[in-house]
Amino acid sequence: MNSSEYLSSLFSLQGKVAVVIGGTGELCGAMAEGLAGAGAEVVVVGRNEEKANARLAKIKDQGGKAYFLSAEASDKVQLQKLLEQVLTRSGRVDIVVNGAGVNSPTPYLDIAEDEFDRIMDINVKGVFLGCQVFGKYLVDKGEGGSIINLGSMSGLIPLSRVFTYSASKAAVHNLSKNLAREWAPKNVRVNVLVPGFFPAEQNRKVLTPERVSSILGHTPAKRFGEAKEVIGATLLLAGGAGSFITGAEIVVDGGYHAMTI
Ligand SMILES: NC(=O)c1ccc[n+]([C@@H]2O[C@H](COP(=O)([O-])OP(=O)(O)OC[C@H]3O[C@@H](n4cnc5c(N)ncnc54)[C@H](O)[C@@H]3O)[C@@H](O)[C@H]2O)c1
Repeated sequence: MNSSEYLSSLFSLQGKVAVVIGGTGELCGAMAEGLAGAGAEVVVVGRNEEKANARLAKIKDQGGKAYFLSAEASDKVQLQKLLEQVLTRSGRVDIVVNGAGVNSPTPYLDIAEDEFDRIMDINVKGVFLGCQVFGKYLVDKGEGGSIINLGSMSGLIPLSRVFTYSASKAAVHNLSKNLAREWAPKNVRVNVLVPGFFPAEQNRKVLTPERVSSILGHTPAKRFGEAKEVIGATLLLAGGAGSFITGAEIVVDGGYHAMTI
């Protein structure tokens, strides 16, 4: 076996179908590119077709297979329709990324109930429903599968200013580990990919100059991550190389979480 055959035996996703909810965004878009690069057919799911088309063009330029389907992550009926559409078009699902997410920097005492509900709806209910709809399919199918939920540094340690977001991501971490326990006997693996700090649409308002210097001061790598740097962990969690990894929180953060003084 030469080295490319060896790597392919560990990481190839040829013949697999990956549904990437939030694939219109920065990080999940990069994850979609990585999954397609490893051979999976990728379904980019979101609400913004223009952004999706830009991502699809990049994937296709790199020789990958992908298409867009629109769905609201916090709506069970839409997610069920999404699953049916994917099964009609692609015949199967093997990998699911639950990555739709929103954030807000509102000071704690000013957080209105509707803002709290909106963040919880997308960040927690969206992941809960994504796991329920696609997890049921994967469990019933009986061939195993990989679910990758997007957590956050704030799901491990509370971060100032993003109170609702932190609470929502802590819930995602907890739910993911609980489902990993539940579905390990069915070979449906559930893991949390935990990005450190990557500039993106959802955190633009949070990244004030003061916060940027505090984040970078606490990051041993002294820089933000680039979206493509989540691809390695994604491929590890998605395919054969990660066959015994479930219930894990894989941190991609330039050392932020390891930093003490
Ligand atoms: N960027 C970071 O530093 C960072 C750090 C930790 C965790 N994360 C998490 O990674 C995930 C991806 O974030 P990102 O930084 O790439 O942000 P992003 O804003 O670029 O992407 C989020 C995507 O989710 C989509 N989305 C939002 N609400 C949706 C809904 N209700 N239904 C369907 N799609 C919806 C948005 O349109 C967007 O395309 C999020 O869950 C985020 O919380 C990001």
